[in-house]
Amino acid sequence: MALGSNLGDRRVQLEVALARLAAEPGVTALDVSSFHVTQPVGGPAGQAPYLNAVLRIETELDPRELLQRLQALERRAGRDRSREQKNDARCLDLDLLFHGDLSMRAPELELPHPRIEERSFVLAPLCELEPERVLRGCGRTVRQQLEQLNGQSKTSGRVFGETLCLHSPAAAQAWCRERAKRGESIGFVPTMGALHAGHLELARRAAAENDVLVVSVFVNPLQFNDPQDFQRYPRDFAGDARMLTGAGATMAFTGDLTQFFPGQVGADGKLASAAWIEPGSSAEGLEGRHRPGHFRGVSTIVRRLFDVVAPTRAYFGQKDFQQALVVQDLARARGGPQVIVCSTSREIPGLARSSRNQLLSDVERRRAASLFAGLCAARELWRGGERRAEALDACLKSTFGRLDIELEYAEVRDPEAWTAAPCRGKMERAIALLAARVGRTRLIDNLRLDEPGSGVR
Ligand code: PAF
Repeated sequence: MALGSNLGDRRVQLEVALARLAAEPGVTALDVSSFHVTQPVGGPAGQAPYLNAVLRIETELDPRELLQRLQALERRAGRDRSREQKNDARCLDLDLLFHGDLSMRAPELELPHPRIEERSFVLAPLCELEPERVLRGCGRTVRQQLEQLNGQSKTSGRVFGETLCLHSPAAAQAWCRERAKRGESIGFVPTMGALHAGHLELARRAAAENDVLVVSVFVNPLQFNDPQDFQRYPRDFAGDARMLTGAGATMAFTGDLTQFFPGQVGADGKLASAAWIEPGSSAEGLEGRHRPGHFRGVSTIVRRLFDVVAPTRAYFGQKDFQQALVVQDLARARGGPQVIVCSTSREIPGLARSSRNQLLSDVERRRAASLFAGLCAARELWRGGERRAEALDACLKSTFGRLDIELEYAEVRDPEAWTAAPCRGKMERAIALLAARVGRTRLIDNLRLDEPGSGVR
């Protein structure tokens, strides 16, 4: 089924709808795409863009009953279809796309959805979940039909195109300088590859807000304090490049450590001490304490990447909240770029998307989902009026005490005034952060407790 919203806080509307759908009797939510921003089709001028997603469910409900439930959820979100004009803005739109292989044509419901094949705003998120599903009308797969639609719209905008892949930072720097000389703004998404839908959400936003989008793919050895973690880190540059084309990346580049730091890497593979960049005070505590040297390695590579690309804007995920603070310090000291921190993209039932998730077994993945449930428990406590840091910390820790998860830390911090030490007493603002090992895989996550909507799933 498809979800859309272009009225009010769109992300919150979709997150609330997903939470309610997951709690609906007779419905099991299986998988959700990332959120896609798309321009409204038809309707009065001046409407906000839509946020769209596709959800895969398992259900024992027949299609009509399911449709009624969806319409009840739309009403619960505040939508009143009786007062709506065609293509008006809407706080929530829930559409059934398929019901297994069922074909039906009734006045109130047609399945498969009759306009799916012409709607790239549905096909793009659907392509993340079911790229090889064959569409009956055109006989093409979801992926092929999306390519076809995007090919047709090439003339009307920079939607798709081959991503240029460069294999050295020097070549990437020359390319970026050339584009900057033309007066083009450069959006930059630094990654360590093994891209997932969360990266693509960052990439699509960066592509929409800039003239060109540059993505770096480099598993940075400087930021791994555990060599085994570095070895196990997933790598797939060819797969990454394919995904980046779909996300609108103009250029992607990679390289090795000696290419990034010419003349500064010794025969032992170690980086010369003069090349390192020391992070600011946001690197202290939590990740900084549990991964000594990690933020020094992040600062060193990010500074280098910023010098190579000289981006106008750089995009980072909120999942790595402390990293985003460290990078913001670094960008301030360097005099740019503008750092944009984007919401965490989550799988069902709430596991933060991460390249490391692919290292989890099915059992571990289910266990890992409880990390988010723990964060939500603290969120509930905050919503109930609790403001004492100690009580919020205790709530977080007690959830994990009962689970087969090796917790490294779970603490609250003031998101706007970072402190290495745990917070004490009454809090004005709060973010709950945690790191845990699930099997051999280390995962991190966080949740703003004081923001509406976050953490409803
Ligand atoms: O967040 C990451 O993937 C990495 O820490 C980054 C920013 C690409 C630096 O290697």
